[in-house]
Amino acid sequence: MNNFTLVDHPLIKKDLTILRDTNTSTELFRSAVYRISNVLCVEVSKKFLLTQKEIETPLEKTIGFELSKQIVLIPILRAGLGMVNGFLELIPNAKVGHIGLQRNEETLEPIEYYFKTPQELEDSEVILLDPMLATGGSAVEAINYVKKRGVKNLYFVCIVAAPTGIEKMQKHHPDVKIFAAALDRQLNDKGYILPGLGDAGDRTFGTL
Ligand code: PRP
Ligand code: URA
Repeated sequence: MNNFTLVDHPLIKKDLTILRDTNTSTELFRSAVYRISNVLCVEVSKKFLLTQKEIETPLEKTIGFELSKQIVLIPILRAGLGMVNGFLELIPNAKVGHIGLQRNEETLEPIEYYFKTPQELEDSEVILLDPMLATGGSAVEAINYVKKRGVKNLYFVCIVAAPTGIEKMQKHHPDVKIFAAALDRQLNDKGYILPGLGDAGDRTFGTL
């Protein structure tokens, strides 16, 4: 699949097992999301552009590097919020926007309720965060929004992806690089990912 990276790592496999387990507490669920997000951040950031700069060590001049572009994280509310701190730990100067989308449980269509992103998105590297890529409706809608603001360097990072969601993304936004910690089998008739981990927002915030 073009532009789809499945991040295969023993620490992800171990923490994904914690997420999938229905007996996992909210506290342990959150901490596993945090650690997986950390590993995903390392993987996505391999694509970041660098600019060389001359610096002086205490001994002599040498060449170092800095990130060429501002990094902007955009969690899709609510569940995407759980992934933010795992990214901010490694990119502490990232800006953070928010996109509020909620799936209608009958139609599975995303309903928009909040948008707030930094002004200068066009020249930034923008990372959308949402643990679940199910039908793909929310991801496609969020990307439509940021593309209208001129974003060119765009990544979508999730924890669990379903084939339906990836197909929808490749149809509507084939240029966006997708990173996932797991590619699951299918959706059930209510649009939940199987085997999945249930409702990521409810499990993150204890609203089950
Ligand atoms: C979940 C999830 C995604 C969306 C994925 O959010 O966090 O945003 O569903 O489904 P899709 O690919 O079929 O659009 P939800 O709408 O349940 O909102 P929440 O995070 O507030 O619980
Ligand atoms: N949203 C979730 O939180 N979980 C799913 O399995 C699908 C969509």
